[in-house]
Amino acid sequence: MNRLPATVLLSIVMSTALHALSIKHLRVEGLVDPMGIEYRSPRFGWILESANIGVMQVEYQIEITDDQGNNWSSGWVMSERSQWVGTAFVARPGTAYQWKVSAKDNQGHLATSGLAYFETGLWGQWKAEWITVPWAENPRATNPVQRYKKAFSLPQQVVRARLYITSLGLYKALVNGQPVTNTCLNPGWTSYPNRIQYQAYDVTSLLGVGANALCVELAEGWHRGRINYRGKEAIPYKEKCCLLAQMEITLANGKTLRVTTDKSWICTVSNILEASIYDGEVAFFSANADDWAQPGSAKDWQQVQTVNELGYNNIIGQHAPQVAVMDTLYAKHVTRQGDSVSVFDFGQVITGWVSIAFTNNLPKTVRIEHAEALTADGSFYTANLRSARAEICLSGNCPGYTPQFTYMGFRYVRVSGIPFHQIASIHAQVVHSKLARSSSFVCGDTLVNKLYNNILWSQKGNFLDIPTDCPQRDERMGWTGDAQVFSITAAYNMEVSAFFRKWLADLAADQYPDGSVPWVVPNVFPYQTPPSAGWADAAAIVPWNMYVFYGDRTALMEAYPSMKAWAGYMIGHSTRGLYQGVKHFGDWLSYNPDDDRDGKAAVTEKDFIAQAYYTHTLFILSQAAQELGMDDEKGEFDMAYADAWKAFNLEYVTRSGRLVSGTQTAYTLALAFHLLPDSLRPQAALRLAQNVRRYGHISTGFLGTPLLCQVLTQFGYHADAYQLLLNQQYPSWLYPITLGATTIWERWDGVKEDGSFQNPSMNSFNHYAYGAIGAWLFGSVLGIKPDFEAPGFQYFVLSPVPNGDLGHASGSYYGPYGSIELGWKHQGNGLFEGSCTVPSNASARFEPPLGFELDWIRHENGVQVPIVQLAGKQLAKLPSGKYTFALREMDYGK
Ligand code: BGC
Repeated sequence: MNRLPATVLLSIVMSTALHALSIKHLRVEGLVDPMGIEYRSPRFGWILESANIGVMQVEYQIEITDDQGNNWSSGWVMSERSQWVGTAFVARPGTAYQWKVSAKDNQGHLATSGLAYFETGLWGQWKAEWITVPWAENPRATNPVQRYKKAFSLPQQVVRARLYITSLGLYKALVNGQPVTNTCLNPGWTSYPNRIQYQAYDVTSLLGVGANALCVELAEGWHRGRINYRGKEAIPYKEKCCLLAQMEITLANGKTLRVTTDKSWICTVSNILEASIYDGEVAFFSANADDWAQPGSAKDWQQVQTVNELGYNNIIGQHAPQVAVMDTLYAKHVTRQGDSVSVFDFGQVITGWVSIAFTNNLPKTVRIEHAEALTADGSFYTANLRSARAEICLSGNCPGYTPQFTYMGFRYVRVSGIPFHQIASIHAQVVHSKLARSSSFVCGDTLVNKLYNNILWSQKGNFLDIPTDCPQRDERMGWTGDAQVFSITAAYNMEVSAFFRKWLADLAADQYPDGSVPWVVPNVFPYQTPPSAGWADAAAIVPWNMYVFYGDRTALMEAYPSMKAWAGYMIGHSTRGLYQGVKHFGDWLSYNPDDDRDGKAAVTEKDFIAQAYYTHTLFILSQAAQELGMDDEKGEFDMAYADAWKAFNLEYVTRSGRLVSGTQTAYTLALAFHLLPDSLRPQAALRLAQNVRRYGHISTGFLGTPLLCQVLTQFGYHADAYQLLLNQQYPSWLYPITLGATTIWERWDGVKEDGSFQNPSMNSFNHYAYGAIGAWLFGSVLGIKPDFEAPGFQYFVLSPVPNGDLGHASGSYYGPYGSIELGWKHQGNGLFEGSCTVPSNASARFEPPLGFELDWIRHENGVQVPIVQLAGKQLAKLPSGKYTFALREMDYGK
């Protein structure tokens, strides 16, 4: 065997030591290489990677270079932090920056990241004027998509060009016929009367010397379209569609030019005669259509009108990931019905649209309808879309089509009006916010694996610029309660810090002056909706959950006034700590048998729920005030909390600890929110477990479901929690999967046991709320949990709850400090062996859950980690590294 000379060996050792540390995952305000940001002094984030044990960052240095070659450096800063790192750097508007970070660890290694980018936006320097079409439109109907154009000439090669653009309505911008972005449904959905996002695009390569054209199509979208099941007349923002665009161009000779929307623009109607979020699109292709988006052709165009009263005050930067086509699916089956009807099954309920091409001209109108399900006899089922037409109608000389101003929730597509052989191609495009995935999960039960995937699909399907309830029927709104119950699961699955930061700013903008929170955000109801418990509490719970996950204090501070206003509303509407009398949705869609002769309906009193959430929200406010150093306010919230807590116990708890509503949800909320005295907690947990056994299944609705298994495991009722997870009978998480579900259903029995559908007036097959069990899969089955004392996952807890029936489970959460991995496998007789990884610059506490003992835990190099006893509990401290462990279930088999 060839031996390497000693010098070579030494240099290999040295170079591995030098490369023992690397830096990945660079973020600016939680975003990947963002364009057009409005942050003056953005914060930076990165992740350290090293194969070594116990790696912590001791120093970092951030270096920034602007597009003029000016350099800035933070100098070496001693700190362990590598997320939300603020600096003294102050950016300038309209400037591109590249940046990198170097870090030294506690073991003498140095690493420098690759380059990352960010670019600042206009920062208010709008020279463009808002424009609109000059003709009258029908505010109660869906009007044709509008086209806008500006032709201009460039004398020289372009070295740099940026387009800053926004609209009231959805825009698609083209430079010389080429789309400026592969994102879609821009400018996204915000509380338009208060906040309108604009986007920045690099359009340098799309411009040329000579004639150029900037063209835009503008559809009604969320701004003026029919949003909300009451119809178009109910929309608060029903004004005209308007466009604002500003292109900043630098020529080769250094001269700068600006093309802005103003009254020199021209406009006309598009061949898209209708485009509506709910209803789809209607397009006509004439035989002699010109290429409208080129500089030349402008027959029958009119001059635009300017709309100066809109101003620029409500314009905000794009600070969250945009929406884009994220995946493509091909049909798994095609069924032909007669000569000219084909039904395509894409095998997965998704949100998006189909892109279709035809072999030759359309014979007549082609209809493309969308459905989530087929009936038991195989018919195309659209009744659950309610009034949403969700169809694409094409006629004329159409070569093919991809919608752009609508979206549909579907698995099946029916194309009618054209023979199958004239469909040259068809594929489904999956559309959602561009959020990085952060979880993986696999276990010994294939149905639970499918459940995890269905949760992901429902998150994809409903994280479309805002968190929506469902993507298919005439709703698709930012229902606050749904987002609240799902927010932790969402944070495990995807990097959602910027997504929720944006949505919470809309929540604050749409909050009523009395602090009450609308049902949906952005708010589309024309009247003040009553603040429903668990829904309105999104104002406090979602920012808190995001803080616990991401540790972004600034985001918490931004949300704090809104959190406080909501708490203030409830304090103002309570008497001696008792908050009552408001209208609530309650434990929405909880188990409700048709025949209740056994007295088994699981209805939890709504005032009880409201008091539970009231108390919990006050607790969060006290915590948030403490984190933000607002001691006086913390004191006030503590007092209000004590009153509410006392009132809860006086009003809803007997002296022996029975709750007025004997439901799973009631006990779950009381325990999860710590509403009972310590002495009464064990008996309440026992009552909960007994209730679960009595029913043999889950009976909770939207509010109890996310917390039920978590509470059961917290009190050691692991078998009961697993029984609920693994139950395949209605009602359960797996029941829909046994019937072929590919997403989470709105109701436990969207399809009933006899194969018929639930009432179509409310039966979405893509509603993530019940998918909130995902938080338990990560937080308990894998046991990867945030440490509430140290938000942001730099310090976290590992406390897996293994289970013999599940056999094995493993997965990961890619948190703000990197990939946390954990897996376990049943070795028989209640012994579970597993492994876990603590990322660099982080550390964990391993705590066996109640009823389990940690036999041993060792680093992968074989060194044992000491197990200490603290207050009667075992605990092992894990610096970064890879470990194996053995957990023993103490009562196994008993
Ligand atoms: C929505 C929900 C929402 C609920 C309020 C429904 O129509 O789809 O998910 O939370 O109304 O009760």
